[in-house]
Amino acid sequence: MLVTSPNASMETETFITVGAALLLLLSLRWIVYQRFPLLVLPRTSFSALFKSAIDIPPEVLSRQIIDTSKKGPVVRIGTNEVVITDNSLVRSLYASFSKWPEWYESPEDKLFYGQLSLFGMTHPKEHSARRRILSNVFSKSLRNSPHVKNVTREILLGRMIREAEIPSGSSVVRNVRPVHEAFDMDFLTAFAFTPTFSTNFLNDSDEFNQFCSWVRELRGGSPDAGKSAKCNLENWCLEMCRAYRAASLLPTHQTISHCTAEALYSAGLQEREVAAEILDHLITAKKNLAVVHTYSVYMLSIYTDVQERIREELRSLSLDTLSIDGLDSLPFFNAVVSEIMRTHTEVKALTPRQVPDAGYLIPQHITGQSTFLPAGTVVSSTREALHSNADIFPQPLCFWPERWMGSSESVNHKLAGKIQPQELRNHLWYFGSGTYGCVAREYALYEIKMLLAATYMEFSTIVVDCPKGIVYDERQVLFPPAEVPVRFQKVV
Ligand code: HEM
Repeated sequence: MLVTSPNASMETETFITVGAALLLLLSLRWIVYQRFPLLVLPRTSFSALFKSAIDIPPEVLSRQIIDTSKKGPVVRIGTNEVVITDNSLVRSLYASFSKWPEWYESPEDKLFYGQLSLFGMTHPKEHSARRRILSNVFSKSLRNSPHVKNVTREILLGRMIREAEIPSGSSVVRNVRPVHEAFDMDFLTAFAFTPTFSTNFLNDSDEFNQFCSWVRELRGGSPDAGKSAKCNLENWCLEMCRAYRAASLLPTHQTISHCTAEALYSAGLQEREVAAEILDHLITAKKNLAVVHTYSVYMLSIYTDVQERIREELRSLSLDTLSIDGLDSLPFFNAVVSEIMRTHTEVKALTPRQVPDAGYLIPQHITGQSTFLPAGTVVSSTREALHSNADIFPQPLCFWPERWMGSSESVNHKLAGKIQPQELRNHLWYFGSGTYGCVAREYALYEIKMLLAATYMEFSTIVVDCPKGIVYDERQVLFPPAEVPVRFQKVV
């Protein structure tokens, strides 16, 4: 008969107890991860487990995302929020996910005239109907529209370049930021209402300063000042809409393609809906576009070798017949524009989307483990994180336009990447992507390229004083400085 010693039975008991405890722990862990699948992800901070990222200042969040994304392409930034930094995953998610849920960022207090504009429309049906109208207005064919050619001739060549004439041999110093903002408004109101009903901020500094103070108060003033600024802005835009509408009802009026007011009225929108949509565009452009123009001039005034080289290329074109098709044929000019877009990373709020009801399983090859995003998870990305991926853009902080040239120029250079320029362009996420990506990207690119070309065909620039501590419109941005005094000299 086999007799087991008391010790051996104790060992067996301990073994079974430890095994059972281990099994219990593993099962518990499994249950917890099934219940809370985001726990497997690297997170920006411990508090990300319990809080929403919406209250974290953008510049802090942005830094945390860049640091944490070294651990993986999906990063947890809040209880229910993740950021994706893998380019292909971003594109596929943004193509199908719907806009952020309203609880996340209610547009209520941002409504002009109590009307939603495209940007605030979260309901898919309403959004796609409005987006269809605006996609036509801002479509690529705008570059050949007689209306846009007219706007370019009158505002860009007439007001911005020719009226700023500087005699040969002399130079002037200008703080370029307000000039760019005034230009933006004149160009966009001319695009929206035709030059006849546009603002004339480039020539009327009182009107321009008034407008700027309204926008400043709208964004950061006291509640009362904000209310009154909103009211002033609404009346101002409504007046332009009414003036345009009255002219468009005359029997002599001919349909104008790529004119925002014309398209919105023709689609049957009410006056206040038209005004709300256009006012939203004007506020957006003041913020987004002027900062790109200023950044471009700032960079080319520092990198004067790059400036010389684009001017050399631009010599093949004439200012009077300047066209975007002509500019598209200049390889270095376009490489500079791409590098400007890549390196210009205004610290900006996230662009959130929502995981649909079925949830989403991120393929294993992207994260190294299968990761499930439950329904309702808020997914975002940032262009700063995508554009500073060193695997795609070696030494991402270097301003090096040649990385977009391909062939002999960049091969074997220490900053050269492995990806060909054509494919590299797919990694630019400047205008976002998918159903809610920037509807006006063709317009924005048109304005950015045309202004850059016209400026450097006529002038050379150097930065007079290179300021540090970069603040734009009271918000911290990486570039450019708020005050950019630049010396302009007429090119002979
Ligand atoms: C350099 C200039 C610009 C940049 C970098 C830019 C960038 C963006 C981005 C990233 C989005 C997507 C936001 C998201 O995914 O939630 C967006 C949306 C939008 N942008 Fe732009 N934008 C620029 C200029 C403009 C201009 C000049 C206009 C108007 C004339 C405009 C009108 C809009 C509108 C209406 C939307 C909302 C689209 C929708 O919800 O379907 N943008 N923009």
